[in-house]
This record gives sequence, C-alpha cells and structure tokens, in this order.
Amino acid sequence: MKELSPSLLAADFYDLRSQIEELNETDVKYLHLDVMDGSYVPNISFGPDVINNLRKHTNLIFDTHLMIQNPEKYIDKFVEVGADIISFHPETTLHPNRVVSQIKSKGVKAGIVLNTHTDENVLKYLIQDIDLVLIMSVVPGFGGQKFIPQILEKIKRVRKIIDESGRDIILEVDGGIKLENAKEISDAGCDLLVAGSAIFNKDGISKNVDDFYRVIK
Ligand code: DX5
Ligand code: ZN
Repeated sequence: MKELSPSLLAADFYDLRSQIEELNETDVKYLHLDVMDGSYVPNISFGPDVINNLRKHTNLIFDTHLMIQNPEKYIDKFVEVGADIISFHPETTLHPNRVVSQIKSKGVKAGIVLNTHTDENVLKYLIQDIDLVLIMSVVPGFGGQKFIPQILEKIKRVRKIIDESGRDIILEVDGGIKLENAKEISDAGCDLLVAGSAIFNKDGISKNVDDFYRVIK
C-alpha cells in the first residue's frame, strides 16, 4: 500500500497546532521532518526541541530527514525526542555504516538518502542493514522546487535493487511531488511519497490528503 508523508517544512509555523490536529484526522500515517543545519544545505529549519513538542500531540510516524553534517552527533537526541525513522545523507559522515548501526541500536528505522547527484551504487554495502531509501527528486534545502524528471528512471533502478535484495525496505521519494505527477512516481516503484507545498496550501490539508490518496492507491 502506498503512503504519503507530508513535509512539515511547508506548514505555517505560526499555527502548527491546528495543522497537526487536522493531519491527525486524515488517513496520513507519516510526518516528514526536514532538519537542516545551514551547512550541508543552505537553509536552517528546526531541530529536536520542535520535534519534542510535536511528539506530545500526534502519533504520526516521525519520518526524520537529516540534512546535517556529522549526523552521528545528534542521532541520540533525535531518538530521545521521538523520531521513528532517521534518514541521513551518506556524504555527511565518514562512516555511514556506523551511523546506520547507531540508529538501529536504538530501535529506530534507518534510512539512506540519495541526493540528486548520488549514484545508487552507494547502497551496495548498506542495503543489508537499512530500512528505507529516500531518493531526492530536488536538490535538498528548500520546499517548492520542481521535480527533476530524470529521477523517475532512478526510482525504477532503486526499486529493482530493493526487490533483488529480498529485504523489506521502504522506497521514499522527496521533492516536487504534486497531484499531477504522484501517480507516475508511485508507479515507478515509490512506496512513500513526500509532499510539502502540495499538502500545506490554501485548499486545505484534509482535501489535499484525500486527493493524493485517490491518485496513488
Ligand atoms: C527539501 C526537503 C523536502 C521538501 C519537499 O530539502 O527535503 O522534504 O520540503 O517540499 P515540496 O513538496 O514542496 O517539494
Ligand atoms: Zn525531506
């Protein structure tokens, strides 16, 4: 079954409470949390304290996307505040295998993010341990960018790698996903679609979520 992970980055930060309450009433099971450090990516978003506050008001699966240098320094903190999945970019650490073990030793799911320039071969020596692959379909750092069409073929290639591994690994895609392209992304083999600006906009969260599920199921 295909799922949606709304990206909080596109929410109105003045009014998080009402948006989380609205999401809690929809069919959504995941919440995508984009953590940016102003170093790995040229933007700064939010960190563990915000996540800690949100955790008290929702049971959504916290799908945490770290865009930070040296994630190993902060993994324990993100686990402590309630992250359910922690995904990181392998180029942000010297020892990606060690970071995967660190995450999993805390009982949390570990994900590897493939940046737009990252070859999927990086998965070869990580696939045996990970729970999720997150494919970037925009250059990370900002919401509201356009889906890079060449990524569709990459999704199909990664789908094949996952299927051949025989392991239960979620394939997630992030960036520029709208109602108009959601079906072809889902059909290419994506299990979990991230959508920020397409969910938190003026049409209303519940309606947007319902529209997405109609298209991807
Ligand atoms: C980009 C983030 C994405 C982004 C998606 O760095 O990782 O999760 O918020 O936003 P939209 O759906 O607006 O492209
Ligand atoms: Zn993201």
